Amino acid sequence: NGGQRDQRDLTEEILEAVDQHEHVPTAEVFPSTPQDKIKAALDRLASRQMVEYETHDKEEVHLTEEGQAIADEGSHEYKVWDAVREAGRLSLKDPSLANASAKLGQGNAFKLKWIKKDGDALVSLADSVSDTTREQLQYAQEHRAFQDPKLLKDYSKRKLVNTQKVIAYVARKGPRWAKEMPVEVTDLTAEMIADGSWNTANFKPYNFKAKGTLGGEGVGGGTGALHPLNKVREEFRKIFFNMGFEEMPTARFVDSGFWNFDALYVPQQHPARDLQDTFYVSDPPEAGPPSADESMDIVLAEMDVDDDQDESDHPSSDPATRAKDTTARLDYQAYYDNVRAVHQDGKYGSIGYRYPYTDAETRRLVLRTHTTAISAYVLHRLSANPRPCRYFSIDRVFRNETVDATHLAEFHQIEGVIADYNLTLGGLQAFLKRFFRNIGVPDLKFKPAYNPYTEPSMEVFAWHEGLNKIVEIGNSGMFRPEMLLAMGLPENLRVYGFGLSLERPTMIKYGISNIRELLGHKVDLGFIESNPAVRLDRE
Ligand code: PHE
Repeated sequence: NGGQRDQRDLTEEILEAVDQHEHVPTAEVFPSTPQDKIKAALDRLASRQMVEYETHDKEEVHLTEEGQAIADEGSHEYKVWDAVREAGRLSLKDPSLANASAKLGQGNAFKLKWIKKDGDALVSLADSVSDTTREQLQYAQEHRAFQDPKLLKDYSKRKLVNTQKVIAYVARKGPRWAKEMPVEVTDLTAEMIADGSWNTANFKPYNFKAKGTLGGEGVGGGTGALHPLNKVREEFRKIFFNMGFEEMPTARFVDSGFWNFDALYVPQQHPARDLQDTFYVSDPPEAGPPSADESMDIVLAEMDVDDDQDESDHPSSDPATRAKDTTARLDYQAYYDNVRAVHQDGKYGSIGYRYPYTDAETRRLVLRTHTTAISAYVLHRLSANPRPCRYFSIDRVFRNETVDATHLAEFHQIEGVIADYNLTLGGLQAFLKRFFRNIGVPDLKFKPAYNPYTEPSMEVFAWHEGLNKIVEIGNSGMFRPEMLLAMGLPENLRVYGFGLSLERPTMIKYGISNIRELLGHKVDLGFIESNPAVRLDRE
């Protein structure tokens, strides 16, 4: 790393200079090195007490553009005198006297008695003059100060110079002076402890002043910032955890038609599966048959270990082994056959949809249109060890929608599923009331609705203060037996499901009316970095 090598060289140079001179004024000894680099090197040495230093700020004089022109070409009065002397007689109407500089110069040259008026012309009164202004400015240019400090006020007022503060340092030997950087140990090892060498080792001191990797100068002091969606998402996660939910793994953005639709008893010719609504993936061309997903199962196996549960159910404590133990009890081929049978011919007391079920449709790869695809996978897996449980997820889903102020082609879904024996619709309503009260939405209204995978289904409505009307805030229902029994779950284990978008509550909390201000290329990064933390009003 070049920067580090420079820094090391500079440290050596400073040691060299301090060795040779009692006091080393860094601005003079290292005029072309930026003082912040000098300071970093001095700090390295000072933290080891090899060198001590003091900080001096001083004012430096700098010429303005006009001051520089005078230093280069002479003062206004000098230029006038010079022109008069050269011409012998210079007509007052001469165009060279028309500019501002010449007007100013004429007055001064009269005062200095360098020239006088003779009829309608100017004549010189001196063979040679000394241009003090130029000389003083030249001195200031070279020394960054005036010879007589009283001059500064005058020249500043005339806007020929200004001053700049510069920080410089004066370094000298410290109590632990050494001409060379000692070799320093950066790690304490087991061997050093064993052989006792740690006792005498020369450890590199901690640098408590080091800036972190984000310690830049950017907006917000260079710190990171959470996106508003992430803040609201964290609030929802806490609410779910407080209500006894576990989080489903949701990394599977691309899923098969099987998990996204068929497993949820969505018929293969359902309009939601149309190209207009769903993004299909063309490469790779298709998914394999439904099977165990190891990356999902390992996460889920962590959840299987429940404090109240008999540990003998889980002979292994290693999640990978535990995942295999659980899924060994699952027969994905049998499950697939059940799904086909219930769609095509009817099963479990249902007459089914009665259409020819095609394997190709189940294998199409889609950008998941809802996180319910994940819930389906997790619920099927539950049939290996059926028990009451609560799962949630909050992640991204994709729909082929026309983008407008309230819709993007992708958004985040908050989804929960609750499995328990003999659940009823009243229980779902009671749960939803409690859940939404937790996010500060007190009065719910339920409206019967239709989902292919839930029966009954209810849309959830609530009063919106700002809009002064009732708005839809979520969708819910009880998963159909066609879906759950095909998975192999016991008949009296019922499952609630509900979903809402993360964007809507976020937009309400942050007072955003256009979703494109929240997500996508039009987002104002200043807003993302400065938006406040959010709190949903919990019970
Ligand atoms: N998947 C539904 C949606 O996209 C939400 C939902 C989940 C509804 C579970 C019922 C049960 O809106």
